[in-house]
Amino acid sequence: MDPATKRSAAAVTSITRPEDHVIVVFGATGDLAKRKLLPGLFRLASAGLLPEHYRIIGSAPVREALSGAEFREHVREAVTRFGGGEPAAGAWQEFESSLSFGAADPEDPSALLAAVDRAENEIGGTPRRIFHLAVPPVAFGSMIKMLGATNLNRGSRVIVEKPFGTDLASARALNKTIHHVFDEAQIFRIDHFLGKESVDNILALRFANGIFEPIWNREHINCVQIDVPEKLSIEGRASFYEGTGAFRDMVVTHLFQVVGFVAMEPPTSLGAKPIRDEKSKVYEAMSPIDPAHVVRAQYEGYRAEPGVAPDSQTETFIALRVEIDNWRWAGVPFCLRTGKCLGASRQVVTLGFRQPPRRMFPIDSRNTRSGHGNELVIDFEDPGSITAQFLAKEPGPQMRLGEAKMAFHYDTSFGAATGLEGYERLILDAMLGDQTLFTRADGIERLWEISAPLQDNPPAVESYARGSWGPASIHRIAAPYRWRLPEG
Ligand code: BG6
Repeated sequence: MDPATKRSAAAVTSITRPEDHVIVVFGATGDLAKRKLLPGLFRLASAGLLPEHYRIIGSAPVREALSGAEFREHVREAVTRFGGGEPAAGAWQEFESSLSFGAADPEDPSALLAAVDRAENEIGGTPRRIFHLAVPPVAFGSMIKMLGATNLNRGSRVIVEKPFGTDLASARALNKTIHHVFDEAQIFRIDHFLGKESVDNILALRFANGIFEPIWNREHINCVQIDVPEKLSIEGRASFYEGTGAFRDMVVTHLFQVVGFVAMEPPTSLGAKPIRDEKSKVYEAMSPIDPAHVVRAQYEGYRAEPGVAPDSQTETFIALRVEIDNWRWAGVPFCLRTGKCLGASRQVVTLGFRQPPRRMFPIDSRNTRSGHGNELVIDFEDPGSITAQFLAKEPGPQMRLGEAKMAFHYDTSFGAATGLEGYERLILDAMLGDQTLFTRADGIERLWEISAPLQDNPPAVESYARGSWGPASIHRIAAPYRWRLPEG
């Protein structure tokens, strides 16, 4: 069955298990593997969602090689610390028996080759290989080349971590490097935001219902906001963050990906190609970012963080307005905001609706408690919720309006949710060969293309207080509308 058909079938029946696999995690001793990938694989195994037969090989540079026993202990610690506590004995024993280690340097892949060989023999038949490249960008190209030189790429799939370049030229170069060794059909560029239930649910909300899609356009919507404030600071990640900043870390990857789902036209089917084609068309229609519609800022004290330059120009906050110049969205601002050390951690899409054409009631949006009129609010932080906000008559003899809400909450509405985290869901999809929720080369390159005016002429960094919602200048980004957050 083609993966696209499998996906829609999975939606109505049960989830298909992937074929037998050898899973290789490069960067197995790194932070991402420890926090997300290794606990995620254990969770998939415990949920019965890994293949019937599988082996997991941890890999790292030869100088950081672990023995098999050390790797198993490393995974156990990661699962205990980041995967919800001490694993249950039975489930752990079975999982543990699948784990081995195979160090690899580009010029010395012998231990990895031996480990893959052993794993394939243990499984028997011709299991598929999947490589998860959780390695820093500098190591990326040489590891890809090694996979080609050793023929490990043949019939395999590769999961690639962001950053997918830092500008158009580097994104093109990176895609070229990968395409020398892997076809686009083998490549899974992972963005963990797209593994969130509520982001995927945007498709269901829009295209499985008759009530939302007819109003999902410029005739009815006057503003779209995608707001991802974080309370966290850079958490000691200066060496990564200084060269990256909020725009590259969050906007080009996560926030623009969400824009793709919110703004796309109805795809011809739920297949990976039609959905990714529609997302690419959104990016084609996005106007180049105008630096005049961007606010960049740093939280107070950022320059004193260990590892940060005293004159750093890296933004820890960004708010910007982008336009999608097509029939559906022309004239509707898409306001995006994200940053560190802000007042709350939220992940919210808000669609603001136009006022009715005639105002008969003694109220306008300024009189409501929150100052907002009709809104559809998609809170996509797991487990997620969707709330429609509208005005209703308050009880009493007078015709007074008050704010009312209709809300759907994932955690209370569906008892039998699989509860997979973004990474888990996406690793499973990659093993099933379903590329729907993964980013395609053309989409990434277009996003860097529209980012060029901002990267060439970034506005000066402003400053904001920790715990705030950014500098005061952000209000001009949303004007004449208002940022939905903070609430109340
Ligand atoms: C990562 C960014 O990709 O996403 C981090 O590098 C950010 O800076 C994180 O904090 C947010 O994702 P989530 O959904 O795991 O909170």
